[in-house]
Order: sequence, then C-alpha cells, then structure tokens
Amino acid sequence: MNAEFEKLVSAACAQRSRSYSPYSRFRVGAALLGKSGTIYLGTNVENASFGLSICAERSAVVRAVAEGETEFTAIAVCADGPTPTAPCGACRQVLLEFGPDLPVILAGEDGLAGETLQLTVAELLPHAFFDFTDQLRND
Ligand code: THU
Repeated sequence: MNAEFEKLVSAACAQRSRSYSPYSRFRVGAALLGKSGTIYLGTNVENASFGLSICAERSAVVRAVAEGETEFTAIAVCADGPTPTAPCGACRQVLLEFGPDLPVILAGEDGLAGETLQLTVAELLPHAFFDFTDQLRND
C-alpha cells in the first residue's frame, strides 16, 4: 500500500471515535481522498428511528460534495472488529456514482497493523445499476 493510502486508513481509523452509534455500538470511520488532495472524513450517524441512520461512507461522500468536490482518488473505511468490514449495498451504489474504478481500502480496528483489503467499487458491486437516462428516446 502506498503512503497516501496508508495515511487515508489512519485517518479513517481515527475518525471512528466520532461515530454516533448508541444503538449498534459499531463504530465506523471513512476517509475520502478528493483529487484536490483534501481528505473528507465521515462516520456513521444513527437515529432512534433505525432506518434513518447513515453510514460512514455516505456521510464522507455527502461532506465532499457539499464542499464542491466530486472527483476522488480513494476511500478508506475502518470499522470496529478484528477483520475489515465491507460497505453495505447502499454505500456501494452511492460510491459507484463517482466512479467504478475508485479504490476502496477496508480495515478493521487494528488499522494498518491488522488485515486490510483493497478492492474497486466495480469489484464490490458487479452488474450494477447505472444511469440510463441518456438512452431514453422520449425527449
Ligand atoms: N455501517 C457503516 O457506517 N458502514 C459500513 O460499511 C457498514 C455499516 C454502520 C451502519 C450502522 O450505524 C452500524 O454500522 C451497524 O450496522
């Protein structure tokens, strides 16, 4: 793993401490590297109405886009537990919006000292739903 990606994993693991997860007690941090070089941090934010909870990955994406950045180099995800946690299906689809080739680096609570996995969004979400509006013939 290159130094830039290692820094991203460390940032994601540190961000876990900001998790608002009183219901699951499962803390997740995400660090999304914009093409500008800025890192956007996200964490899971849960709600008493469980379905309203947002994952760390999507919270990082929302934060980046709100700051005007829509092109990314990589995202790191760091969750509680001894082994890397894979993003949920909703987060895979949201990440796909910004590119199937985006590297996704997964780590467990031991960060770089533990097992890590690196996959692309396309590998995580094969046969994905893409935007089809340019194929419509009714305009
Ligand atoms: N969660 C994430 O933030 N990212 C993932 O990749 C998997 C799950 C959160 C959602 C919820 O707050 C908690 O982990 C338990 O599912």
